[in-house]
Amino acid sequence: MKVQEIREKFVQFFESKNHIKYESSPLIPQNDPTLLFANAGMNQFKDFFTGKANPNHKRAVTIQKCVRAGGKHNDLENVGLTARHHTFFEMLGNFSFGDYFKEEAIVFAWEFLTDVLKIPKDKLFITVHHSDDEALEIWHQKIGIPKNKIFKKGDKDNFWEMGDTGPCGPCTEIFYDHGPDHSTPGLVLKEGQDILEDELRYVEIWNLVFMQFEKSKEGIKPLPNPSIDTGAGLERIAAVLQGKYWNYDTDAFTPIIKKIEDISGKKYTEKESQSSFRVVSDHIRSATMLITDGVIPSNEGRGYVLRRIIRRAVRHLRLLNAPDGSFCKIVPAVFETLGKEYPQNKTNSALAEKLLLLEEKKFLETLDLGLKYLNESLKKDVLNGVFKGDAAFKLYDTYGFPLDLTELILQEQGLKVDTKAFDSSMLKRKEDSKKSWKATGQVDNKIFFEAKEKCGETQFTGYQKTNEFSKLLYKIDLGENTALIFDKTPFYGESGGQAGDSGNIKLNGNLIAHISDTQKPVENLFVHICDTDACELLEISETYELQIDIQRRELTKRNHSATHLLQSALIEVLGKHVKQAGSSVDFEKLRFDFTHMQAVSAEELQQVEELVNQKINSALEVNANIMTKDEAIHKGALALFGEKYGDNVRVLTMGDFSTELCGGTHVDNTKEISLFVILSESSLSTGVRRIEATTSDNAFHYLTRRSRLLGEIERLANAKDTASIDKFNYYIEEVKNKSKEIAQLKDKLQSSQSDELFSNPQKIGDFVFVSAIAPEGADSRKISDIFMDKNNNGILLLFGQKGDKQSILIRRPKDLKTIHCGNILKSALELIGGRGGGKPELAQGSGELGGIEVVTRFVKKSIEEAIIK
Ligand code: SER
Repeated sequence: MKVQEIREKFVQFFESKNHIKYESSPLIPQNDPTLLFANAGMNQFKDFFTGKANPNHKRAVTIQKCVRAGGKHNDLENVGLTARHHTFFEMLGNFSFGDYFKEEAIVFAWEFLTDVLKIPKDKLFITVHHSDDEALEIWHQKIGIPKNKIFKKGDKDNFWEMGDTGPCGPCTEIFYDHGPDHSTPGLVLKEGQDILEDELRYVEIWNLVFMQFEKSKEGIKPLPNPSIDTGAGLERIAAVLQGKYWNYDTDAFTPIIKKIEDISGKKYTEKESQSSFRVVSDHIRSATMLITDGVIPSNEGRGYVLRRIIRRAVRHLRLLNAPDGSFCKIVPAVFETLGKEYPQNKTNSALAEKLLLLEEKKFLETLDLGLKYLNESLKKDVLNGVFKGDAAFKLYDTYGFPLDLTELILQEQGLKVDTKAFDSSMLKRKEDSKKSWKATGQVDNKIFFEAKEKCGETQFTGYQKTNEFSKLLYKIDLGENTALIFDKTPFYGESGGQAGDSGNIKLNGNLIAHISDTQKPVENLFVHICDTDACELLEISETYELQIDIQRRELTKRNHSATHLLQSALIEVLGKHVKQAGSSVDFEKLRFDFTHMQAVSAEELQQVEELVNQKINSALEVNANIMTKDEAIHKGALALFGEKYGDNVRVLTMGDFSTELCGGTHVDNTKEISLFVILSESSLSTGVRRIEATTSDNAFHYLTRRSRLLGEIERLANAKDTASIDKFNYYIEEVKNKSKEIAQLKDKLQSSQSDELFSNPQKIGDFVFVSAIAPEGADSRKISDIFMDKNNNGILLLFGQKGDKQSILIRRPKDLKTIHCGNILKSALELIGGRGGGKPELAQGSGELGGIEVVTRFVKKSIEEAIIK
């Protein structure tokens, strides 16, 4: 049975048991700072388990894309070596939120495996938590599994936790016996060990978690309702059904393996190449799915994990002799098996190809540098045949060398790596990277979940209205401000990048309080932030008039609509790889972040700006329609990168130029935007650019201000338009030339002055000794250069004055090695209460003012002694 059929059968089975299918959540967890990547089907339901939010329906089924590379569940290092570990995999899961519990979960799983998939019962084995006799008895009595095929295990195996915090509970697991041919070679079971310790032969295919607790920093507490979370690895189930041992031999990987064969000219069946084939085929799936969900390779957090995955794969491609730049060519093969289930990822495949090529190039550049560093390190970082762990880590961290690459190279020279020291450097790095993604977390919004429980959803009337008579339902003291919740509101709550509305609260036409901002901390709950003391007087259940700041809203609307035009214009001018990576719109300006590999040129920016203005002038009608997500995708609506939407979506169209999913407030016709101007274009991170722009009144003010500035420049330059720029370029050149001329003249002057300065030479042996006082402010070092140019057998003692200090410089010809200027200077300075020294050839220092004669006598004497000796 092929993977697609397994997916369909799984969903159909649980739908027939009254479950609702949810789409997979994106790989970047939404609003969950405790998670690096989505690592299990239950992630998106965390709030349903903990009771923070209530589901509409108590049963769910999903096919969840998961990445386990970094964080609590990390399989990266196992990939390629085992038959069943992956960085990216799909998890089949059914969930009960306080509905059915142990018995039904077990019965469902057994029925699906043995009735629907027809896996032979005698091939299946069971584990339960050692404290869970209830589950054991269900398996034994209800399902009829003999007790000798049910094994009790401890917390390590049978207590599942999502991360350091979050919902958790005991679990029961179902194992499949791949037969004695796959037994772990040489395994002898010790006392107390059961047959499932033979991990190569028995493979876990389904984990049923009995969610009963929530772990937090304070400890562990029971969940409001016992729940079910199950997870079965799709690739493992496919291996069982397709009679394969290695997941890589199933149709989930076949197109990828075939593509690697084409690229490398090697065969997957060749034993020595197999593990590289497997690493590459696993890593291309995770790298592609991560990028198409919005992760960009970088040096921290998620981006860093992605970079490591890519580098490991590229090095294995090199081992397979694949030409440079091959990795990205495998992307289309990934979507042969994942494209149908994850169409949003597939839409972004051009971006994955571009970024992977860029990353591969970057890595290959550092690979050669890394090899150079490795060769240098071999000379100093090896002790008793062991290569230092921190050097191996530097190779890993700075040059992107996976540890196994370093080990392989060293092996050839009979050396090993101090892996313990490597691990501790790695641990430190992980802590640092964890900090970087934790920092992006949001505040705990429990109070707002509670508020929503009490008030229900807020009705938003702001698409049509700017004022509304609303009943006050709830007040929350936020310290400096107060949060107000009404039954309905015209105030837009910050979301989708659009800032929240501000405005006033009135009673009987009189202004009584001010709202500075509106937020939506929980879906469909509008929270009005009141910043005036008067809000204490507002009474629950009283009806007030809510009036938004119309001028602000108007400007914000125009900026938001222009953002949509901008996105379409960028795609038209730069290409289809342009994807939204973030945006923010308020009444002053708009900011749009998007994926693009290089800076947008001045001509391209101009084209984009002109195209947007052209669409404004074409007076395109703007329409919003609610439709199902499928209909929206069919219409080609642009959705936010890696974003999850509800079942019904709001589709906003502007003529036939732009179609986007959007809940924001917009103009009715693009002509209302009146004018669009780009303020700046910059780089946000590798592969992501940022454009800032503004519209209508703000754009007009910006342009008129710039125009006035140009007028001022024209006046100063006494020239019009581009001639003023030519004039300034001319001035800049002139200033440069004049500066050069002045410097040359200064040198000349100094040179002629120096003749006077050096006019009193004294002979010492074959040498000329000059003692002189430099003019105030002169550069002693420069004077000594002039002196040496003119006197190749000269020795100079030069005094100078710097504030209330006296400087001394001593310099001698290069080959007069018997004199050490530094030592002489040191003693000379002692005579005038100074300290210092210097090099044999040239020394400088300073002391108190005065003592010129004494110092001169001393220096001269020292030189005479040295020369005569
Ligand atoms: N959360 C459990 C797991 O990931 C079951 O889905 O194994």
